[in-house]
Amino acid sequence: MRIGVFDSGIGGLTVLKELINKYPNNHYIYYGDTLHLPYGVKTKDELRGYTDKIIHFFIEQKVELIIIACGTVSSNLYDEIKDKYGIFIIDVLNPTAAYIKKNNLTNIGVLATPMTIKSKAFSKKIDMPVKAISCPLFVPLIENGNVHSKECEEAVKTYLNNLGQCDNIILGCTHYPVLKEIILKHTEANLIDMGKCVCDYIDIKSEEGKEVSLYFSLLSKTLVKNVSMIMEDDYEIILKEL
Ligand code: DGL
Repeated sequence: MRIGVFDSGIGGLTVLKELINKYPNNHYIYYGDTLHLPYGVKTKDELRGYTDKIIHFFIEQKVELIIIACGTVSSNLYDEIKDKYGIFIIDVLNPTAAYIKKNNLTNIGVLATPMTIKSKAFSKKIDMPVKAISCPLFVPLIENGNVHSKECEEAVKTYLNNLGQCDNIILGCTHYPVLKEIILKHTEANLIDMGKCVCDYIDIKSEEGKEVSLYFSLLSKTLVKNVSMIMEDDYEIILKEL
């Protein structure tokens, strides 16, 4: 199956990686909109414009399914766009809410981008109050390759402190699984990875053979390093501005 997966940058690769691990035999077409990141501080209108261009690109690429591997677009636009393009579209929030309900998880915290927190989408989808903290420093730190800096560790500590005690923490932005090890140094909570929830939610088993195409709207050396750090494999990276 041809599947389009997108995000503002490398974050959605944490979802793509899970998809490839569980369902290797598909043709995945990934689009990372590095020219316009971070999405988490953009207006809804701006997000709508970027998303529309990416979906049209995927339609040209003849994908049969689109996975919004972005918490910000999922929480702000999914309900509005899911039936708009005549193509099957999946977000990251509904699968995460389904996972939480299926496992009866409670005392939930959410770390996410400012726009995701502002939308209150997680508490609405999960249908229970959650503690939610906006983490604007994380995406720039990750995209700029500064995950192992002192600044990053300080940011992790500050945000976790602001969140307070939780049994379960949703990594509500697809970039954040990159910080998993650092986060786990400072909390005993169970971390919920939205990419894993998506894999639980869908069944896209196929025997067609594995193919992965990675497109980004802006390339840099740091991006290339980040891609191989997350994917743990070498894939060709293609520049494509929409
Ligand atoms: N990884 C995206 C998300 O899940 C976008 C983050 C950003 O670009 O601010 O929200």
